[in-house]
Amino acid sequence: MKCTSVVLAAGEGTRMKSATPKVLHPILGKPMAEYALNAARAVTGGKPIMVVGYKADEVRSVLGDGVTYVHQKERLGTGHAVQQAENVMPETTDLVLVTNADMPLVQPQTLANIIEAQSANEGPMSMLTVDLEDPRGFGRVVRDEDESVRAIVEEVDASQEERKIKECNAGMYCFQAEWLWSSLPKIDLSPKGEYYLTDLVGIAVAEGQKVKAVLAEDPEELIGVNNRVHLAEAAKALRKRINRKWMLSGVTITHPELTYIGPEVEIGRDTVIEPNTRLQGKTVVGRNSIIGPQTTVRDAQIGNHCEIESSTIEDAIVEDGVDIGPYSHLRRGAHLARGVHIGNYCEVKEAFLGQGTKMGHFSYIGNAEIGKEVNIGAGTITCNYDGKKKHLTRIHDHVFLGSDTLLIAPVEVGKGARTGAGAVVNKDIAPYSLNVGVPARVIRKIHRSD
Ligand code: UD1
Ligand code: CA
Repeated sequence: MKCTSVVLAAGEGTRMKSATPKVLHPILGKPMAEYALNAARAVTGGKPIMVVGYKADEVRSVLGDGVTYVHQKERLGTGHAVQQAENVMPETTDLVLVTNADMPLVQPQTLANIIEAQSANEGPMSMLTVDLEDPRGFGRVVRDEDESVRAIVEEVDASQEERKIKECNAGMYCFQAEWLWSSLPKIDLSPKGEYYLTDLVGIAVAEGQKVKAVLAEDPEELIGVNNRVHLAEAAKALRKRINRKWMLSGVTITHPELTYIGPEVEIGRDTVIEPNTRLQGKTVVGRNSIIGPQTTVRDAQIGNHCEIESSTIEDAIVEDGVDIGPYSHLRRGAHLARGVHIGNYCEVKEAFLGQGTKMGHFSYIGNAEIGKEVNIGAGTITCNYDGKKKHLTRIHDHVFLGSDTLLIAPVEVGKGARTGAGAVVNKDIAPYSLNVGVPARVIRKIHRSD
């Protein structure tokens, strides 16, 4: 049976008090709506249909074309919202799954349970319910003596008795497609001026048809985000879930409460993550590495047996056996080959550092190609920018740069050459020569065995 999902996201999210639409607020670096969309994709295998309204253009441009968008011009309620999807619904659809974009913790398995319940239901709809100690704002599920669902009563319309009911409507449903489209127009306007999707329960029951309820196993999955307190709660729960997954797959996380790993990150076995560390975006960390404390890694690849402390690594490649920090910064296009050592207060941008090269103290290397086993003395700077353009610095294998060498790019330092402390290099340096002064000049040749 073909199932298509409809994800509701037209609401303004007034209580977020934000210029950004609620569903675009990031959780662990990803817009909130992505979580609901991914869960829907995982169970239906197809493109979700998303009902957008408030700042629809912004929502579309951020979430991209993995979604079919429909626009709800006026927010006339959840029933009206679902109705907008009818025109774009693939004809072959047997079942329609409805979920909310502001529930980022729902797992695909839970959605699969609702679809499975409906596949076995002779009646037209199944829904997810949840037992809540504090049912703040949720619609209550009213059941008959025989346990079947009789109605959903919205909190605002509920009697004192009904408000005591702990079983709530989670806001996730699966419908027989044909029945859904023929029944939506039968919903009456509520006293609040909305068409409630939940009224379909009453409509089905009046027809003598069965509504199935699936009780959610873990209420935490149904944390809905309406304000920034909920946003923090959802982020915390998600973080906990991700950290647990990595710990169970062989990663040591010394302080899970203080470790922030994004949903797309990959980490190898026996790696240790120390506190106040953030791994974000499409970061990959290999095996047996130690990351942190106080480290941010974003969209970077880190190899095996690396150690990175109190540093920031962005959009960079770090091969095996590299150690970095404390207090260094790798920026876009930095690539460190095996066994490179980066100490403190160093910055690398758009530069390759060859195997075994060492850069221990307060240096800037930008727009450079550096060979193997190069020693970059304390305070070495590539002067790569002339105010208009960036220029390249090339340093060949086994070069020794004395402390405080300034390399005025474009410039090239030949294999095995050395500079003295404070050299200002404004012309290419020949291989195996010693250069000193301002501007640097050759004072002697170097024996290759030096
Ligand atoms: C809804 C349910 C309630 C359930 C709760 C679970 C109804 C009438 N009530 O209430 O029983 O317990 O969800 O969270 O459905 N939306 C639109 N267009 C609209 C109105 C809403 O797209 O015109 C979207 C919202 O952006 C949101 C979702 O539908 O993603 C739910 O709407 P919301 O107003 O939050 O419904 P609740 O009052 O929470
Ligand atoms: Ca809600």
